[in-house]
Amino acid sequence: MTDLLLAPSILAADFANLQRDVELINRSKADWFHVDVMDGVFVPNISFGFPVMDAVHRYATKPLDVHLMIVQPERYVDAFAKAGAAAITVHYEACTHLHRTLTQIREAGCRAGVALNMQTPVELLTDLTDSFDQVLIMTINPGFGGQKLLPLSIPKIQKMRRLLTEAGSSALIGVDGGVDLKTIGSVLAAGTDYAVAGTAVFGASDPLQAIEQLKKRPTPPMA
Ligand code: DX5
Ligand code: ZN
Repeated sequence: MTDLLLAPSILAADFANLQRDVELINRSKADWFHVDVMDGVFVPNISFGFPVMDAVHRYATKPLDVHLMIVQPERYVDAFAKAGAAAITVHYEACTHLHRTLTQIREAGCRAGVALNMQTPVELLTDLTDSFDQVLIMTINPGFGGQKLLPLSIPKIQKMRRLLTEAGSSALIGVDGGVDLKTIGSVLAAGTDYAVAGTAVFGASDPLQAIEQLKKRPTPPMA
């Protein structure tokens, strides 16, 4: 069994001490930086854009996993690739031509990711399993950090796992929202490969220890 990949979300970092927080993740056992970009249209919040992306890229020594919570993400894919993204995830709900956008991401030299909001069934990706490298199951309604994981998202992870296995796809399954030491056991048991965690990392008194504990693969809850 391979280790869970952990992607701390910069959204929960201290922006007045961004270099310090990026360097903390560099020193940690975390695998990727998760970079949440929100436009105030696709989600009811605005986070940050290129100045913060550039600052993170300047100091980060681990891959940048960019999560675009924006409308018409195809307009910004190339710019985020140029700004140092290793992976770019766009929302199914924001893409009229999802296949075209995923192809654009790969052509820009990045891993292509697709995120699914709560209401979007995993089956809608059946015909595109060769076209993405990772799929992000939202375990909250996106827009804000610090929310509670919605349990109705757990069966979706299992369904996604079955769908990818049947298709012979090696795409990774990620989860985003409300991941902490209490919830990580259930998302892992459901078949998650990578987990995003904001508050559980940066809100902890010892973020390095929190990262280690989250990556430990706690015993799955009893069925
Ligand atoms: C929310 C973002 C998440 C968020 C997770 O819309 O996509 O990545 O930062 O934050 P926590 O871990 O605090 O739920
Ligand atoms: Zn995210």
